[in-house]
Amino acid sequence: MVLQYVIGQQRQRGRKKKSDQIPARRPSELRDRVRDISCRAAEIATYVHRLAYELHPSKLESLGLVAALNSVCRDISRQHQVQVEFDHERIPDNVAPDIALCLYRIVQEALHNVVRHSGAQKARVALRSNDGMLELHVADPGAGFAAADQARGGIGLVSMRERVNFVGGQIAIHSAPGEGTRIGVRVSLSGSPVAPLSPSRLMLGA
Ligand SMILES: Nc1ncnc2c1ncn2[C@@H]1O[C@H](COP(=O)(O)OP(=O)(O)OP(=O)(O)O)[C@@H](O)[C@H]1O
Ligand SMILES: [Mg+2]
Repeated sequence: MVLQYVIGQQRQRGRKKKSDQIPARRPSELRDRVRDISCRAAEIATYVHRLAYELHPSKLESLGLVAALNSVCRDISRQHQVQVEFDHERIPDNVAPDIALCLYRIVQEALHNVVRHSGAQKARVALRSNDGMLELHVADPGAGFAAADQARGGIGLVSMRERVNFVGGQIAIHSAPGEGTRIGVRVSLSGSPVAPLSPSRLMLGA
């Protein structure tokens, strides 16, 4: 599916070159065509690699959830002016792949939002397991936002809600101008029903 899309995109781009459709007459023309084709093949390989990574990050599979989250937090701290603290407690090694991917993507998106929108210089990520539930919190003490801004934004917060819904969990996002942003997610490790997260249970401060 993804490959078909990528090849389709490449074909669209290739179509713009009318000369491709005329047979090459000179060896130099043939050489140029071969060079062009190998460049496009390399581009396709890069696209596919990137898309595959985006669909399922290799770090998550090879390192496990805690180490992969640690790596995301470390990368953000290194690349931006935001110190991200990561705490975790009693996380089992065998978190189901769909739950691990959901939590990983939420942390990525929440931290990208901290960098892009909050102006905060620190943020906290906490992952805990309790009574067969995993609870994730991401908080920053930055600019915060009003509900109307959320609606005007992109797809980050919407896709967080969709991802959590998909694994049968609960999410609460609390923010207000000047009050920072707190995101809490609760998912069941065993498939049992998940009680909603009340705003008072969201991690305070960052
Ligand atoms: N941590 C945060 N601090 C301040 N404002 C935030 C924060 N997170 C989200 N927002 C606000 O909520 C809006 C919606 O966020 P969302 O992630 O859905 O979209 P986006 O980041 O603007 O775009 P996209 O995620 O699609 O690239 C943002 O545009 C921003 O105004
Ligand atoms: Mg976003």
